[in-house]
Amino acid sequence: MAILVVYATTEGQTRRVARFVAHRLAGRGHGVELLAVADAEEIDWTSVEAAVLAGSVHMGRVQADLAAFAADHAAALNARPTLFLQVSLCAAGTDPEELAEIDRIARAFCAEAGWRPGRIVQVAGAFRFTQYDFFRRWAMRHIAAQKGETVDPGQDREYTDWAALGALCDGWAEELGEVSARSRT
Ligand SMILES: Cc1cc2nc3c(=O)[nH]c(=O)nc-3n(C[C@H](O)[C@H](O)[C@H](O)COP(=O)(O)O)c2cc1C
Repeated sequence: MAILVVYATTEGQTRRVARFVAHRLAGRGHGVELLAVADAEEIDWTSVEAAVLAGSVHMGRVQADLAAFAADHAAALNARPTLFLQVSLCAAGTDPEELAEIDRIARAFCAEAGWRPGRIVQVAGAFRFTQYDFFRRWAMRHIAAQKGETVDPGQDREYTDWAALGALCDGWAEELGEVSARSRT
């Protein structure tokens, strides 16, 4: 199948996630086009059979340019198998309130766009304190303090579970293969 993967990233982790997903799906025999949302201006949907959108949460919201893309292309997305990957730090934890919050953020993102993805997947992101500017350092210290935690400014940490993401891609690739086989018979 021809699969389009479109991502938005602020600090780079969702780019890594999207690249990983694209590579894994390609490894399962699918044709994959990977695009940063800024480059996804004109999409020829006649040559796209399935799509993945990936974005990350900052201050309770996913990137506005990905939201605009999802809204602009909702009809095409709704006509195909699709996945929404939402990257955040809350997804790395087990706090029920935080998990409920990122679930709400993802559902609101899709509802506002009028997009009904086949599956919404919460992906744990990364903490890149060494790369943050002053505002981001302040925001992350504030978030950590609210949770009663302290941050180590010298230490980045990646929480993404690549094995779980790989398994998700393999399962979805298989489902797409079955859809494709059914449409040929
Ligand atoms: C300023 C700032 C605000 C953030 N706000 C949230 C948030 O509201 N909820 C959350 O779960 N994660 C939050 N995060 C964590 C990011 O979602 C996480 O670092 C993710 O890996 C970023 O992905 P990206 O590098 O693709 O932008 C925030 C990170 C930063 C720097």
